[in-house]
Amino acid sequence: MIETRITKMFGIKYPILCGGMFWVGRAELIAAVANAGGLGFLTAATYPTIEELQDDIHKAKDLTDKPIGLNINLFAAVRPQPIERWVEVAIEEKIPVVETSGSSPKAIVAPLHAAGVKIMHKVPGVRYAQSAERLGVDAVCVVGHEAGGHPGMDEVTTIVMVPATVDAVKIPVVAGGGLGDGRGLVAALALGADAVLMGTRFMATQECRGQAAFKEWMVNAAETETVYCMKSIMNPSRLAKNSVAEKVVALEKRGATLEEMLPLISRQGPAVVDSGNMEDGLVSMGQAVGLVHDVPTCKELIDRMVEEAEAAQQRLGAIFA
Ligand SMILES: Cc1cc2nc3c(=O)[nH]c(=O)nc-3n(C[C@H](O)[C@H](O)[C@H](O)COP(=O)(O)O)c2cc1C
Repeated sequence: MIETRITKMFGIKYPILCGGMFWVGRAELIAAVANAGGLGFLTAATYPTIEELQDDIHKAKDLTDKPIGLNINLFAAVRPQPIERWVEVAIEEKIPVVETSGSSPKAIVAPLHAAGVKIMHKVPGVRYAQSAERLGVDAVCVVGHEAGGHPGMDEVTTIVMVPATVDAVKIPVVAGGGLGDGRGLVAALALGADAVLMGTRFMATQECRGQAAFKEWMVNAAETETVYCMKSIMNPSRLAKNSVAEKVVALEKRGATLEEMLPLISRQGPAVVDSGNMEDGLVSMGQAVGLVHDVPTCKELIDRMVEEAEAAQQRLGAIFA
């Protein structure tokens, strides 16, 4: 057991969270994280209909009696998102923790809190953490430049972002971006965080959706095999380095417009994950892919992280003795 403000607030054994992951973060993964003592977030935007979201929540509840979370992405998407319905579903399904991201959670703080739901808002910068705190969220997750998905415009790494955020807010801070093992967990706690949140590392687990060939690519990839791009179109993203991502980078370098990039950037996630062919499109991935050397179950991963954290702590104890 590792006790922090986050483990107490969310009612979990270990301060290890699996962030919302479009398309891949489904019931099997989120329930496995919960059963292993962490907390994972199903991703509302994954499901084409509310019924499919509800079905996956029910499936996760059948697979675990531990808390499960829901990610509500507030990013202004091309097509309007049913955010109010997602909030209603979180409340109806008695989801204890909602992870918000993408934009200000202002409109949904009051209804979620009225129903007793805790809110962790995920941000890519210190100033956004401060505004979220002013809105009354219960915790913030701050992600650094290493992170898979949307690491923000600031290009500030996790090692600076976390302590800067800890100094700037009073609510618990969760560290995200580039974390993949127990050493990272101890480092994040040392920086003042109350938990870690990982996406990339959890993608290379047995319970995560995805072809074996896709996970094998992750096992073989080095920490250099991601690209950070699309800042020019205000959609900064960290993606696996494949031929499609490299084309996006090249287009961006020559000043291409959103319209010119659209045919490439609309090929996101599902194709690669489900076919296992890395050249099928873009897929979010963080630099922590360089820390992925196997495809364990979530329980094996989390147990190992706790052992590694204890070893790191002993090493520190010897250094500071
Ligand atoms: C494949 C993938 C899909 C993601 N989709 C979402 C998403 O839909 N909503 C969201 O808030 N974050 C999303 N993220 C970000 C993760 O929740 C998390 O913040 C990030 O992965 C942490 O950095 P790491 O990859 O270095 O662990 C995604 C990340 C990955 C790798």
